[in-house]
Amino acid sequence: MSNSYLTCSFLSSIFVLSLIFIFIKRKKTRYNLPPGKMGWPFIGETIGYLKPYTATTMGEFMENHIARYGTIYKSNLFGGPAIVSADAELNRFILQNDGKLFECSYPKSIGGILGKWSMLVLVGDMHREMRNISLNFMSYARLKTHFLKDMEKHTLFVLSSWKENCTFSAQDEAKKFTFNLMAKQIMSLDPGNLETEQLKKEYVCFMKGVVSAPLNLPGTAYRKALKSRNNILKFIEGKMEERVKRNQEGKKGMEENDLLNWVLKHSNLSTEQILDLILSLLFAGHETSSVAIALAIYFLPSCPQAIQQLREEHREIARSKKKAGEVELTWDDYKRMEFTHCVVNETLRLGNVVRFLHRKAIKDVHYKGYDIPCGWKVLPVISAVHLDPSNFDQPQHFNPWRWQVSSKSGNCASMSNNNFMPFGGGPRLCAGLELAKLEMAVFIHHIILKYNWDMVDVDQPIVYPFVDFPKGLPIRVQSEEEIEDEESSDEEREREDENDFGLRVCLV
Ligand code: HEM
Repeated sequence: MSNSYLTCSFLSSIFVLSLIFIFIKRKKTRYNLPPGKMGWPFIGETIGYLKPYTATTMGEFMENHIARYGTIYKSNLFGGPAIVSADAELNRFILQNDGKLFECSYPKSIGGILGKWSMLVLVGDMHREMRNISLNFMSYARLKTHFLKDMEKHTLFVLSSWKENCTFSAQDEAKKFTFNLMAKQIMSLDPGNLETEQLKKEYVCFMKGVVSAPLNLPGTAYRKALKSRNNILKFIEGKMEERVKRNQEGKKGMEENDLLNWVLKHSNLSTEQILDLILSLLFAGHETSSVAIALAIYFLPSCPQAIQQLREEHREIARSKKKAGEVELTWDDYKRMEFTHCVVNETLRLGNVVRFLHRKAIKDVHYKGYDIPCGWKVLPVISAVHLDPSNFDQPQHFNPWRWQVSSKSGNCASMSNNNFMPFGGGPRLCAGLELAKLEMAVFIHHIILKYNWDMVDVDQPIVYPFVDFPKGLPIRVQSEEEIEDEESSDEEREREDENDFGLRVCLV
């Protein structure tokens, strides 16, 4: 081979490689990406993004990024390039186009611990099938009958164990309530039973792993959680086998109406799929609403007017029930809890139990002049929208009255503001939305009638990114009857203040 031939082929290879390089570069820069920076290789800006912060704020990372780049910016998060959205319209667009332009895309570690059949990680037909089962389980008809009755029973079970002037963790108590309720509705487990308590212990360990760094190494919380996951699954499988045997023998029992029985009788799911469904519903149904209840317990004492208005509403309901000779709460009573609904909304807006969602673009998307490339992560940050002053006036204030329907127009300023999305939106809107709101209202009904409470130690909700009270929200209660006497001696003084009371909002 001559030298000139070698030189010629060398030069032409360089030429071809340069062309490929220019083509890739042009393809890469073809996009009009939002501003932002990509941070370190691989980890990008993930550490800053996940740095804990107070739940009633957007957090330093988000505030700084929005101030610098605006409400839509690019970054590198959770191991890949990402578009972060604190823009209400884009968030709605992302959620409404789930399955068309975007797809659910939670980090692999979530699938590892919740299971590959967990609804959070499923997409397509399988997701739809699991979702339908969940919606059926939490239908209005079941909420009005099975859930409401049980909810009240479990609320009273927890509240009646509270001792006056003793300090205890309100967060643990809220978890006890939501766990007991879900364990009963899903598998007919009764609170206090040895097996229920054992399952609860495994669940606590499991949860620690869900919120920890996904390091599968000896001694880590994640490794322990994987072990607890196996123990929980074995437990559920044992229950399944008992049921199958009993159903074959034609025996009917207390379990007729629970979820486990329903999926065994009416679905074609495999054992593995049923196990992951039960595990993830127990997780979704107990962690989120217990945090929401703890947040209400945290916000309310700093807003005495809200406590007073709640008390009037619930005393009125209790009075009319007594008159009618009724004992248990009914769906009509729930519908009468108008101010309670405002408190529930405001708690969810300011506390933001779920901060942001994980999606990825499955097509190139063009939005508000920016490109979102196919394959990029997309993170709609719902909490940033709830805490944005252009969406909610004085967003840091706990102001349940912002949700009140105006008697003149019949409209509610905040309600017509469809930027409120604590339960997500689109085809993956929270399946337990109505259940969660009902749980909060029933719990508030009884706690407000039965007790007055105050914080024993300074504690506040922190985003880890799961919202949690580091000290467990320590509170002390006094029974409401006693408080009533103290209140009446203060009544005169309060009446004097009444004129400048107005619609004063409460600072938290
Ligand atoms: C205050 C309490 C709650 C909040 C703030 C909340 C919030 C959310 C959010 C934001 C999503 C959407 C996730 C996404 O799009 O990626 C979701 C999904 C879901 N939630 Fe809730 N949730 C709450 C209570 C509950 C309860 C009590 C249950 C009952 C089991 C439940 C079951 C579910 C299920 C099954 C999904 C998946 C829906 C789907 O993928 O189709 N949630 N939740």
